[in-house]
Amino acid sequence: MTDQDIQEVIKAFGLAATRAKEVGYDAVQIHAAHGYLISQFLSSRTNKREDDWGGSLEKRAKILLKVYDEIRSIVGDDYPILVKINGSDDPHEGFNLEEASQVIGGLSSRGINAVEISGMNSSKTFRAREEGYFYENALQIKKDNPETTLILVGGVRTLDKMNQIIASGIDFVSICRPFIREPGLVIQFEKGKEKGDCISCNKCRESPQIVKCMVLLDES
Ligand SMILES: Cc1cc2nc3c(=O)[nH]c(=O)nc-3n(C[C@H](O)[C@H](O)[C@H](O)COP(=O)(O)O)c2cc1C
Ligand code: SF4
Repeated sequence: MTDQDIQEVIKAFGLAATRAKEVGYDAVQIHAAHGYLISQFLSSRTNKREDDWGGSLEKRAKILLKVYDEIRSIVGDDYPILVKINGSDDPHEGFNLEEASQVIGGLSSRGINAVEISGMNSSKTFRAREEGYFYENALQIKKDNPETTLILVGGVRTLDKMNQIIASGIDFVSICRPFIREPGLVIQFEKGKEKGDCISCNKCRESPQIVKCMVLLDES
């Protein structure tokens, strides 16, 4: 990417946030995780640039901070901006926990409203039956950045685990696949259910046309 390409991407993030706000969304989230563009800039494994946008962590993180500044300058101080970011790129080298914590510190001092800790959705973690597989990373990041509002995503399935996560100081949990299987899961939790039925088999993600629980579909 040329410098001009990068400036255009930064502007495009700002315009996207403007559209989201205009049509009534309550917040926007910058996607800086999962190996997409900003995540590629953050990682020294993928970012081999020798200009102002690569090299030191400060330079690799510059695009993310500029995207945040651009969005904030357009949506104003009262509109929530979140970011989803890898707590590390494990199992890949590159962006590690210490670096993630530093970048999150930089975003926090600028006024980010919340940070969702994710990681590389490699098949290993994504299929893991272990609950909250990015929990340890999130805990360390919270320790380094106690003022930052943190959200943990990844494999959380039971009320017990959610309560444990919240009790340890992480502010929110987010869940995805369990809602594909059981869209009314929160109401079910309120009625006494203790565990979502999703088995993290990932078949819903692999189906090319529709996002549905393929396990339920197979059973019907
Ligand atoms: C069908 C499907 C589509 C997804 N699309 C996105 C996406 O566009 N952006 C994103 O950040 N995560 C996406 N994810 C990942 C989820 O947001 C979440 O990080 C991941 O599923 C782990 O959480 P879970 O164990 O609660 O499902 C997707 C997951 C699934 C199953
Ligand atoms: S196919 Fe169903 S059980 Fe498997 S991960 Fe998706 S929602 Fe969960």
